[in-house]
Amino acid sequence: MSFPIHRKRRLRRTETLRRMVRETRLSRDDLVLPLFAVEGRGVEEEVASMPGVRRRSVDRLAEFAKEVEQAGVPAVILFGIPARKDARGSEADRADAVVQRAVEAVKAAAPGLCVVTDVCLCEYTDHGHCGIVEGGEVRNDPTLERLASTAVSHARAGADVVAPSDMMDGRVGAIRRALDAAGFADVPVLSYAAKYASAFYGPFREAAESAPAFGDRRAYQMDPGNFREALEEMRLDLEEGADALMVKPALPYLDVLAEARRRFDVPLAAYHVSGEYAMIRAAEERGWLDGARALEEALLAIRRAGADLILTYGALDLARRLE
Ligand code: PBG
Repeated sequence: MSFPIHRKRRLRRTETLRRMVRETRLSRDDLVLPLFAVEGRGVEEEVASMPGVRRRSVDRLAEFAKEVEQAGVPAVILFGIPARKDARGSEADRADAVVQRAVEAVKAAAPGLCVVTDVCLCEYTDHGHCGIVEGGEVRNDPTLERLASTAVSHARAGADVVAPSDMMDGRVGAIRRALDAAGFADVPVLSYAAKYASAFYGPFREAAESAPAFGDRRAYQMDPGNFREALEEMRLDLEEGADALMVKPALPYLDVLAEARRRFDVPLAAYHVSGEYAMIRAAEERGWLDGARALEEALLAIRRAGADLILTYGALDLARRLE
């Protein structure tokens, strides 16, 4: 016997009831806001493909970080866009390069904010690939030392967490060993463990000027058809010493996130990436949907699938709505 004994609508009748039986909710505590640091002073420029997102010079970033902290967003992830790029990404691990200065300035302005740094070479190399290129190929092992040195320089600048996003094999272990040797045994590694070769990174590459000059990233980022391989990537990163794992992008890979939640008892992050954000903003600009509601629904789905942390360009707006 089902209907009319059972009526699922009974518990949906009022907002109070809905509030009482809601299984998943978003909290400001889950949010990580990505920030882009550029050279110069007083610079604040819109990213055309990401309405509401700006690239800021270090001074402006420090000011903005105070607002972010005030709104109750617990963490930011910093990306540096250097003025000069070369084959080995020399600016990635220079002590006074743009991201290192940004870390220092943000920590000084907003001491309570957790500062995560993205550890990768693609923003710093002239060819735009995430590693050292030799003979037209991104070489794995020669890249590890560059990544480890970059992570250590971020820690030295005051980063609270380092997040490698390059997808080289063995980089979590290399970074862990280098951090420990440099006296940063307490700095956690949040690994972009299941990172797919995705079309949804398009707007980010405009913001970070990091589109590859030749080819694409499919020889190191994951094939979108692969699910089991993602779980293997995550297991290996845990073995190498990752403290937390990330799935990226988020919505197209919720199956991976949900399975990772079942298998691994470490904090899981999901990156609602630039293209996922841009789609919502673009549709909103056309009057096709309510952007704030669509974004909240997307992020709630990511939370429901199992993410503890969500990296989202909408973190500040959302934190203010949740206040
Ligand atoms: C660096 C990196 C990328 C993103 C985060 N870290 C770009 C890429 O891999 O091409 C994408 C983030 C986004 O799209 O919002 N490797």
